[in-house]
Formats: sequence, C-alpha cells, structure tokens
Amino acid sequence: MKELSLNILDIAKNSVTAGATLVEITVTETPARLTITVSDNGCGMTPEFVARVTDPFTTTRTTRKVGLGIPLLQMEAQMAGGDLSIESEVGKGTTTSAWFDPGHIDMPPLGDLNSSILTLIQGSPDIDFLFTHSIGERSYTLDTREIREIMGDISLAEPEILAWLGDYISENESSITNPT
Ligand SMILES: Nc1ncnc2c1ncn2[C@@H]1O[C@H](COP(=O)(O)OP(=O)(O)OP(=O)(O)O)[C@@H](O)[C@H]1O
Ligand SMILES: [Mg+2]
Repeated sequence: MKELSLNILDIAKNSVTAGATLVEITVTETPARLTITVSDNGCGMTPEFVARVTDPFTTTRTTRKVGLGIPLLQMEAQMAGGDLSIESEVGKGTTTSAWFDPGHIDMPPLGDLNSSILTLIQGSPDIDFLFTHSIGERSYTLDTREIREIMGDISLAEPEILAWLGDYISENESSITNPT
C-alpha cells in the first residue's frame, strides 16, 4: 500500500466488521514519531487470535483465505523504523496501533485522510467516528456524534453532509499543516 490513509481505511473497516458502534481514529505526528491508533468497541479477539493475527492466514473472512489489512500495516511500519501492536478483549473492543519514524527513508506518505474518513462515514453512516489529527501542538477533531446532534435525523451519508464534512476536514488539515 502506498499511502497510510489506505491502511487506516483498512484497519477502521475491521472495526466496522467487528460490529463497533464507535471507532476512534487518531493520527499523532511529532518530529520523532508518527502514530496511528484505531480503537473500537467491537467484538474483540481472544489473546490466542491476537497472537496469530499478524499472520496473513489468520482471518475470519469467508470470501478468501487470507486477510491482509493487519500484516500489511505491520510490514509498512517495520520497514519505516516502527511496528504494530494490538490490544483486544472479547466483548470489549480492540485497539490497533502502528508507529513509524517519520524521518525514515521508507516512511510512506500519509495520503488523503479526507477521502478515507469520508469513505468510512459514507459506508457506515450509523456508526460513530471520532477522528483526531495532531501535528505537534496543533490538532483538530471530527466527532460524528456532535454532527449528528446538530443535524438531527438526516443521514450522515447525504451528499450535502458529506460535502460539508469534507470541507471541515480540509480546512482543519490546512490549519494544522500550514498555521498562519
Ligand atoms: N478491530 C477488530 N475487532 C475484531 N476482530 C478483528 C479486528 N481487526 C481484525 N480482526 C480479526 O483479524 C482478522 C484479520 O484482519 P485483517 O485486517 O488482517 O484481515 P481481514 O480483515 O480478514 O481481511 P482484509 O483486511 O484483507 O480484507 C479479521 O478477519 C478479524 O477476524
Ligand atoms: Mg481487514
């Protein structure tokens, strides 16, 4: 995978598949480390399953025999001076974290976070997403629970809402990337 935003999409889709009602996605950037964390309140995994899950042949998929989301992200992280860890509890949820050395020659680009977040919301408008991106001291948050409160009964997958969310993300991305 070329862009981390696609890995984020993949890992967050695992949370959706796990039946989560809230998925928290955090991207934290400091000069020494970039960390991606996806936390959910889905079905969780047993310790035995977690121990095997970085093996591509560990999957509960039924349409193909290999699952690649986690092994790919782990490989990308290890190639860029970092690694991946998973904490999970059956019935409680899962937290998957991957970290990278941003100065590493094999550091992948973050890519289009905006598209990944919109794809998730559009695909699962009834699930709540809490997205936080921080670069050093600057950060912003998108919390679909707050948006829902303002919008009332309108689906978050409505084109107008998605367009508004896209603008919100891009404005905030530029304000933390190029502070004035
Ligand atoms: N957040 C999660 N909650 C519960 N189970 C999970 C979670 N993330 C991964 N899993 C379990 O780990 C398996 C492997 O995940 P992985 O993303 O590597 O592959 P996959 O989702 O099976 O297939 P792919 O990502 O290639 O579509 C999943 O099939 C699922 O059983
Ligand atoms: Mg997956």
